[in-house]
Amino acid sequence: MRYESTSQPSSLPPLLGFRQNSSKSSSKFLSLLQKRMRLLSQLFWLLLLTIVPLILAVYEDYRLPSALEPQHYDLRILTHMDELRFEGLVRIHLLARESTRNITLHVKDLKIDEERTTVSSFQEENCVTSIETHDLYEFYTLHLCRELDKGKVYQLEMHFGASLNKSDSGYYNSSYTDAKTKQVLNLAVTQFSPTFARQAFPCFDEPSWKATFNVTLGYHTNYTGLSNMPIVGCQEHETLDHYIWCQHETLLRTSTYLVAYAVHDLPNRTTTADKQTPHNKVTFRNWIQPDLLDKEMQFLEMAPKLITFFEELFQLNFPLAKIDQFVVPTHRFTAMENWGLVTYNQFNLAINPNDDLQVKKDSNTFTAGHEYAHQWFGNMVTMKWWNDLWLKEGPSTYFSYLAMDALQPKLKKGEAMIAEDLGNFFAKDSFGSMTAISKEVRDPGQILAQFSDYVYQKGSLMIRMLHKVLGEDAFLQGIRSFLKQHALGNVVQADLWESMQKAAQQEKVISADFNLSRAMDTWTLQGGYPLVTLIRDYKTGTVALNQTRFYRGKETEGNSTCWWIPLSFVRQGLPDFEKTIPQASLECPGKTQEVLTLPDPPSAQEWLLVNPQVSSIFRVNYDEHNWRLIKQSLKGDAKFGGIHKLNRAQLIDDMMALASVRIQSYEWAFDVLEYLRKETEDLPWKRALALLNELGALLSGQDKNDFKVYMQQLISPLYKRFSKLEIISKTKPATNEISFQRFAYTQACHYHVDDCVEQAKALAISRQELPSDFRELVYCSFLREGGEVEFQLVLGLFKNATNDAQQLIWASALGCSRDFNHLKEFLDLTLGSKEKAVKNCFLAAVKTALSGDYLTSQTTNHILSHAKVIGEKFKKKELTSLLLRLVGQVKESKVLEELNDQLKDIKPFKKPLKEALDLASINQQWQEDCAGDFSRALRKHI
Ligand SMILES: *[C@@H]1O[C@H](CO)[C@@H](O)[C@H](O)[C@H]1NC(C)=O
Ligand SMILES: *[C@@H]1O[C@H](CO)[C@@H](O)[C@H](O)[C@H]1NC(C)=O
Ligand SMILES: *[C@@H]1O[C@H](CO)[C@@H](O)[C@H](O)[C@H]1NC(C)=O
Ligand SMILES: *[C@@H]1O[C@H](CO)[C@@H](O)[C@H](O)[C@H]1NC(C)=O
Ligand SMILES: *[C@@H]1O[C@H](CO)[C@@H](O)[C@H](O)[C@H]1NC(C)=O
Ligand SMILES: [Zn+2]
Repeated sequence: MRYESTSQPSSLPPLLGFRQNSSKSSSKFLSLLQKRMRLLSQLFWLLLLTIVPLILAVYEDYRLPSALEPQHYDLRILTHMDELRFEGLVRIHLLARESTRNITLHVKDLKIDEERTTVSSFQEENCVTSIETHDLYEFYTLHLCRELDKGKVYQLEMHFGASLNKSDSGYYNSSYTDAKTKQVLNLAVTQFSPTFARQAFPCFDEPSWKATFNVTLGYHTNYTGLSNMPIVGCQEHETLDHYIWCQHETLLRTSTYLVAYAVHDLPNRTTTADKQTPHNKVTFRNWIQPDLLDKEMQFLEMAPKLITFFEELFQLNFPLAKIDQFVVPTHRFTAMENWGLVTYNQFNLAINPNDDLQVKKDSNTFTAGHEYAHQWFGNMVTMKWWNDLWLKEGPSTYFSYLAMDALQPKLKKGEAMIAEDLGNFFAKDSFGSMTAISKEVRDPGQILAQFSDYVYQKGSLMIRMLHKVLGEDAFLQGIRSFLKQHALGNVVQADLWESMQKAAQQEKVISADFNLSRAMDTWTLQGGYPLVTLIRDYKTGTVALNQTRFYRGKETEGNSTCWWIPLSFVRQGLPDFEKTIPQASLECPGKTQEVLTLPDPPSAQEWLLVNPQVSSIFRVNYDEHNWRLIKQSLKGDAKFGGIHKLNRAQLIDDMMALASVRIQSYEWAFDVLEYLRKETEDLPWKRALALLNELGALLSGQDKNDFKVYMQQLISPLYKRFSKLEIISKTKPATNEISFQRFAYTQACHYHVDDCVEQAKALAISRQELPSDFRELVYCSFLREGGEVEFQLVLGLFKNATNDAQQLIWASALGCSRDFNHLKEFLDLTLGSKEKAVKNCFLAAVKTALSGDYLTSQTTNHILSHAKVIGEKFKKKELTSLLLRLVGQVKESKVLEELNDQLKDIKPFKKPLKEALDLASINQQWQEDCAGDFSRALRKHI
């Protein structure tokens, strides 16, 4: 499943690390357990690993009883589109694993015709004595007249119905407006993940209860019915005129959250690409509303290529005969990987070739890759329970990156997205409040909260770590045997470790006594990441290493956590950054200090670098002399001493982080940053400027002015490397250049570098048609330097925009205005709108305004005075990113108090506010402890 905010990047790059809210459990039990875990871990890590499952076993009341095993569902759903309701019949074949007198399954918001519920076996009819429900866990329990006997198979039959809801979950109603007739046309479609199947039919709605499904759909012949599998045949409805029943082929063993169906009247569009994959002859169809039929939807065309890519990578064929790609007008998420019936959120799609931003197009490609990787990770092999959600989201994210780079090698977008994830991870996971990616979740609310960027990103970085640390051969072999062994089954993370362990041993990457599971658990069963300190002894050539958790902000109690840390070394004389298989490791639990004699030790004049390509997720601090050698290479060598670009970005990130906790000085950090003047790759630039922009926003007075001068000088060579801004009206940059160029111009114009602003203004005044990626930055400068006339002009462009993508660009630009009276007019207009696209323009404008220099406090006040409405209109995720952006520029604690006062009683803001205040307290601490050093060091470089 793909889950992302619908906001668009505004004039400054998004704040690293704070794209999305985290998911923290509020359960008392959990925090108690966590406390206990921490206490134990202080005593003995091993003990902890063996005791946790014992504690959990006692509390499994939130899981369905295991006495009954659903083996097959016959599901018949009759959809009355004219009345926006459906009725259904489900017949579940149940194997009694134990004798029992009750049946518990999931039901939510369904009207059950209890009179018609039956339980039977071949020999006998049973009967129901009473029914019990459990609200929080959404259980529905039938108490029976007679016991079900162990070993026998029974049939539970239930009749039910409900209206097609508008909450984009379960079996829901979506609609679109016919472009010609302006008629609103309805359709019905499912979104079952994670816990919504139970709103559509009574079922054992847990991922481990896999069963086969026979789906039969009834509907008016004006509509088309789709389900996971192709249709076997249709027949007329017994009583209703013009209604048919269509039976679909049996779906192989599948978890309930992956079952899907739709009844709709959308036309199909065939892909121009090969319609069938070479291996297993999968047929593709796309369903889109009529007025979008002729739009560019490159990512839809990629589906056959993606399936083929994954079939070859995983050496396991896609098992179904067809895939329908269904573009739904309203969708709770960005996309959903239902087997054979993948759904996409139309709202999030880039479909306007001339107006959608490149980032959005890339994001669509990523989404398609992610959903198709799920056909193996998630659909074929499924986690037993939602605590291990990362087992499907991590691999699907990582393999989508690999697919992008394999299918579009020039764009290098997979690599860029990995770099971005690394930046986010290092920023965010240094908060003491971050929990493990694999953590217990119980009720539907907690399960839904597991779907966070944090779980996706760290999960992906875990799989990447296995890839880099075990090497290509062992990794692929491990992945393939994992999929093969567990195909159509369920897994826990230990199963993945086991497959990897076996493959790595076969390939002789690890020794026979190495315990990969214990090693990897240190990464997935706790939050945070380590800082490794490496001190070289230049006489003996040995290195001393130790580890400790890296924190910004409050430390959590029990600071004795450790990780298994693979160590791969690279020396200056032989800068082979492909050598990612470790030569040594830090153990957990292990010695407080490890002293190693390297097989190929560097001389005292060579630097030593650990963790090539940032294969594993930890920070490194070196002794002073080694840092000095690294800096010399970065600054003095045209090729940066051969240091990999991901490591260059990480060296900056580490240096800045170490300075922020006063382990290193900002003087050293700025000295490292000097090397950027020669940097030609975008990854280090983007990381460095994101970090600097964040800190710059916390400065005021003379410090702020000096900061701007510094930024101008830093960015100037970057800006000059690209052609003049005015050229873009004539020649659009190559697709693989757009991102870096847009970034460079945006930063340059923001800091008034050179003639950037003049060029932008001239372009805006000439009213030439500009490539969409450059429109916002050009009009932002135009507005920032302009007044009433300029504002009205861009507002006019906004009002005349013919699609959402265009609107959003003008909205972001409008946030650059310097006059709040103008901006206010726009904010009121957009906030008042019921249309989702226009509503989102409010967020876009506000975000730009908050990252600018002029209207931050007025915009803050505006948000606070409209807090209630904003809380109702936007998702938690959007509110979080809004608040993080807001506190990211707050310099006085008075504002924070006000923020807290005004928002603390508005329910939707509860979690976002907590997260924002966490960040605020870290920022405040930085202002007190570090801002002075930062500014002093900076002044030496201007
Ligand atoms: C259902 O039956 C089992 C015995 O098979 C029993 O342990 C359990 O408590 C019963 N559950 C309910 C809700 O009555
Ligand atoms: C089915 O389509 C026909 C012709 O387009 C239309 O007249 C009729 O009202 C439709 N019926 C339903 C139930 O949608
Ligand atoms: C499910 O449908 C298939 C035909 O697609 C049929 O052969 C099979 O008997 C059905 N299973 C059950 C349990 O009705
Ligand atoms: C798909 O659309 C074509 C016309 O564009 C039509 O001939 C065909 O029947 C449609 N297929 C389905 C399954 O509706
Ligand atoms: C790690 O080593 C460094 C340098 O010797 C030392 O300053 C630091 O206190 C050590 N940290 C831990 C957690 O032992
Ligand atoms: Zn997913």
